Amino acid sequence: MRIAMIGTGYVGLVSGACFSDFGHEVVCVDKDARKIELLHQNVMPIYEPGLAELVASNVKAGRLTFTTDLAEGVKDADAVFIAVGTPSRRGDGHADLSYVYAAAREIAEHLTRPSVIVTKSTVPVGTGDEVERIVAEMAPDSGAKVVSNPEFLREGAAIEDFKRPDRVVIGTDDEDARQVMREIYRPLSLNQGAPLLFTGRRTSELIKYAANAFLAVKITFINEIADLCETVGADVQEVSRGIGLDNRIGAKFLHAGPGYGGSCFPKDTLALLKTAADNETPLRIVEATVQVNDNRKRAMGRKVIKAMGGDAHGKTVAVLGLTFKPNTDDMRDAPSLSVIAALQDAGATVRAYDPEGVEQARPMLPGVDFCPNPYAAAEGADALVIVTEWDEFRALDLGRMAKTLRTPLLVDLRNIYPAAEAERAGLRLVGVGKPKAN
Ligand code: UDX
Repeated sequence: MRIAMIGTGYVGLVSGACFSDFGHEVVCVDKDARKIELLHQNVMPIYEPGLAELVASNVKAGRLTFTTDLAEGVKDADAVFIAVGTPSRRGDGHADLSYVYAAAREIAEHLTRPSVIVTKSTVPVGTGDEVERIVAEMAPDSGAKVVSNPEFLREGAAIEDFKRPDRVVIGTDDEDARQVMREIYRPLSLNQGAPLLFTGRRTSELIKYAANAFLAVKITFINEIADLCETVGADVQEVSRGIGLDNRIGAKFLHAGPGYGGSCFPKDTLALLKTAADNETPLRIVEATVQVNDNRKRAMGRKVIKAMGGDAHGKTVAVLGLTFKPNTDDMRDAPSLSVIAALQDAGATVRAYDPEGVEQARPMLPGVDFCPNPYAAAEGADALVIVTEWDEFRALDLGRMAKTLRTPLLVDLRNIYPAAEAERAGLRLVGVGKPKAN
């Protein structure tokens, strides 16, 4: 199959590289000439484990190319994927679809055959209808079909998620388009038997939002249970295990922490609420989730201050982990931003370390002193706070930490250290949803 991928952001680049690895001929198109130039030199615009290697090997095999010329990419393509950004529109939280529609217009202008146009970007229900309208208006004789095929990739595990998905959702009622999509995903169904779920286009668009909203609800639910655990003297990790072993609930996404962040959950829950409001069908559980999660991030800063005795003035706090989750350099809606702001507002000085995120974090975190390693950050600090659970924080020398800190306090917002281990090292441990030490 010949595939054009419009947009070399996170989703476009990962999807393009993986499709070419399936053996398809893929052209990735982006307007940003500098990005394309860098990709030609195998410099990835994002940090994603394994991506540079995957791109390099498929470029070498001649299956993956990059260009700024959309016409060239679209020409002769069996399928044209739209993988441009759909950020929250400033002011109202609606998904900004201007990039999607601009891409649709440009594609329509350059269609040479009845290609299948696929929206991979996360788009609100009904966007496919509008793309179809644009194409029908601009290229009425093209015979092009519009399909929804949302992605469910997690940053840091995107290649694995692409190649071993739980399911692939394909929204179209057109049998020819289904056949093209079947062909594109054939390597998956051959090897792992990943189910291809065919639905209507609107249903497919909604599945993406419903999935992300449900996961956001699940995390927020366990975060509130964690708060209750702290008040009643229960242990949220054991509660998670206890409920997660029930197959109907499932063990994943039940890790209590500082609240969800990232490029998807915050944006997609908001956009879903807008769709719900526009259609006068409120989603109250999602509304509550968004509100609870927003409050939680700053509340984690107050939790640290409380652990330090209630006053942050003149205190220094060492923060480990800034990105919204490990194995990414993505700082979008990262809990660290709110935690650190709350600490600074209360008069604390903040020192921080992150394995990959410093370049992105620096402009977003004025006044923070960035350190070259966790021990340098902890030097003379009054608390060590783990905000993001990078693997390298799982094997810290806690004894050395206890000596490096001015006050031997560890606030572990990801519950990676058992209380006994911290205590043995001479650290007082405050976790999330853990019973207080006697
Ligand atoms: C998510 C979805 O998982 C993915 O399917 C979708 O396509 C995009 O959004 P991503 O944002 O990359 O992916 O990260 P994910 O691993 O889902 O984590 C999202 C946030 O939830 C992070 O801030 C993470 O720390 C938090 N989280 C996740 C928890 O606090 N507890 C959990 O148990 C799981």
